[in-house]
Amino acid sequence: MEPIKIADNIYSVGVNDWNIRDFHGYSTHQGTSYNAFLILDEKNVLVDTVKDGFPKELLSNIANIIDPKEIDIVISNHTEMDHSGALPHVMHRVGADKPLYCSKMGLRNLQRHFSHDWNYHAVENGETLSIGKRTLTFMETRMLHWPDSMFTYLNEDKILFSSDAFGQHYAGNEVFDDESQDAIMLHAKKYFANILMLYSKKTIKLIDKVVESGLEIDMICPDHGIIWREDPSRIINAYARWCKAEPQKKAVVIYDTMWHSTEKMAYSVVAGLHDAGVEARPFNIRKSDRSDIMTEVLDAKAVVVGSPTLNNQLFPSVADMLTYMKGLKPQNKIGAAFGSYGWSGEAVKYITRELEEMKFDLPVAGLRVQYVPGEDALEQCIDFGREIGKAIAAA
Ligand code: FEO
Repeated sequence: MEPIKIADNIYSVGVNDWNIRDFHGYSTHQGTSYNAFLILDEKNVLVDTVKDGFPKELLSNIANIIDPKEIDIVISNHTEMDHSGALPHVMHRVGADKPLYCSKMGLRNLQRHFSHDWNYHAVENGETLSIGKRTLTFMETRMLHWPDSMFTYLNEDKILFSSDAFGQHYAGNEVFDDESQDAIMLHAKKYFANILMLYSKKTIKLIDKVVESGLEIDMICPDHGIIWREDPSRIINAYARWCKAEPQKKAVVIYDTMWHSTEKMAYSVVAGLHDAGVEARPFNIRKSDRSDIMTEVLDAKAVVVGSPTLNNQLFPSVADMLTYMKGLKPQNKIGAAFGSYGWSGEAVKYITRELEEMKFDLPVAGLRVQYVPGEDALEQCIDFGREIGKAIAAA
């Protein structure tokens, strides 16, 4: 990725990670980018760095504009290693005595990641910093999505450097929203579902606060994916919608299967849901990545989970999916459990317990079928789907 001018004396100098396909367990089918930004003023500022493995590319992008030694200030909006991994290389090249601005929690976290005694400046929420003709304002955004997270706002240009928020795991040649296809919103939705969903309540409070304060935003520069310049409100409004967990008339049927019996049940449950006028799709957990499934869960009203019983337990992939989903705290959902079993059949009970712990409404009792479902059992599965469909319509 070449450095790209995004406004007068402001450049995007980050890198594309084209071939990453697994970002700590999140499937990145189209790679990702680690964005960093260079602001030239009386004091030159670097906002964020990149993942370790890419510092040469970052420093080369900067060197196409200025000698990295001419950077006066480095800002770390977030400590996670995809944005701080290159810090030791960058600080070495920029000058280890140059001020490194971060939040108060950022100071603690950076010190726990790196042994370097850098010239830290921990900022207060709302603190400003003049860099010449321009002023930066630091905004604490704790738990969006780490305790150290903060935004940096460039007052005169009305640019928000938003760290992970409003980002997308996507590597492309496009830089701005107006150059991107509509599919970029699917990447943004997946990012929200898998990284930020559990912080929805904090996120909506922050968005409300920003809207009430009348903060003008002409451009949002996240640390992953494209920059929102044509219509920043598009992604802000999408976040507000996703945070409110107002699901569609939609069900996600998630299952695994040993000898296709639970799968046959899943297909019949989907048929019943369709019959009740609900959009529904089956997802075999071993064929779809859990982060793709969570993207579907985000705006679904019902999550129906099926598992065979293996050695008196849930099938391991189903336990994995439930653990992942539970951590992301989906809200305002209906749940239901089903599964085929041989002789003990505990899986449905365990799914039900997990769904209850996630505070899902469970309007229909779990459905178990011994061994292979025959016509009658499949008819029962269709009815089970219809009942869930009615509960969705009534919710
Ligand atoms: Fe992109 Fe939380 O790091």
